[in-house]
Amino acid sequence: MRVLGIETSCDETGVAVYDTDRGLLAHALYSQIDLHAEYGGVVPELASRDHVRKLLPLVRQTLAEAGLGVADLDGVAYTAGPGLVGALMVGAAAGRALAWALDLPAVGVHHMEGHLLAPLLEDPGLKPPFVALLVSGGHTQLVEVAAIGVYRLLGETLDDAAGEAFDKTAKLMGLPYPGGPELARLAESGRPGLFKFSRPMTDRPGLDFSFSGLKTQVLLAWQASDRSPQTRADIARGFEDAVVETLAIKCERALRQTGARTLVVAGGVGANVRLRARLNALVGGTSVPKRSAKGFGTEVPPTGRVCFPRPAFCTDNGAMIAFAGALRLQAGQHEAPAVTVTPRWDMASLPPL
Ligand code: KG4
Ligand code: ZN
Repeated sequence: MRVLGIETSCDETGVAVYDTDRGLLAHALYSQIDLHAEYGGVVPELASRDHVRKLLPLVRQTLAEAGLGVADLDGVAYTAGPGLVGALMVGAAAGRALAWALDLPAVGVHHMEGHLLAPLLEDPGLKPPFVALLVSGGHTQLVEVAAIGVYRLLGETLDDAAGEAFDKTAKLMGLPYPGGPELARLAESGRPGLFKFSRPMTDRPGLDFSFSGLKTQVLLAWQASDRSPQTRADIARGFEDAVVETLAIKCERALRQTGARTLVVAGGVGANVRLRARLNALVGGTSVPKRSAKGFGTEVPPTGRVCFPRPAFCTDNGAMIAFAGALRLQAGQHEAPAVTVTPRWDMASLPPL
């Protein structure tokens, strides 16, 4: 079954074709970074208009790269939420119209399920049960995945998402949008340990997160500093280490709590090199520093495996939507031809496959 996937939930237009027998046939992405850069963040109305301009050319390009015509498609999948409603409507309307014209089934995909399944896209051996850490610009969640479509939320952020914390912290230190990758790049030349920020909510049990206080700590450190390039890099390093360590501590706890041996990491922050290294060390059971955090999972690191999508499939893309949609269409799930999107959508409400 060949499925066209369309992603337009935020500031990337993503298109892909996934074949359930042959895997990913082609994918293309257009990022709106330049469009939003001068505003320092995503402007929803501009995002919608740009999706309108870019989507159909990208569909043509992707089909051409796959060596297919529209008549070769068996289904259409598009992101139906969560996301910016105007941006979602562009992909939903195009996807639904295409499916209606070609008389194909179409399915609205949950953006976070797309992220969550992205590690399976190129690793067919990876199967539930596992624990997923979803770290994007809008979400920070630990999810227990018993089966595809059976999701239990173990913990989530009470305020800022991890990616949002990266973006806001970068902005207050004067880095350009998109802040996350910029801050991570800057942190590479920062020295560890010179700025020590807290690891929020790790000193008490539970799997929830809170990242909004960190940016205030960084702001105070930044204002009190000499603001030299090296200091800025040192602060970036201190911030990155705080986020990475906090995520690692909660992942370790989630693995212990569920007894799962596999950790799957997805979403834009999953592209962060230091997070990848830290979680590899944690789950692989090597070089994990001893901590003294009052008995919460300090002794022996869990052994198992940690799986990440390639960095390009951590951030928003059409491939994950084509893949998640193909699994649901293959299971016979699709919706009546009406354009509906769900800007706020609880993943636990999804039906099992
Ligand atoms: O999944 P994603 O592309 O979009 C959402 O669904 O939100 O995630 C985007 C987020 C942004 O906050 C961005 O700053 C962050 O992921 N991000 C990173 C890195 N690459 C992207 N954060 C830290 N380090 C990175 N290398
Ligand atoms: Zn995303």
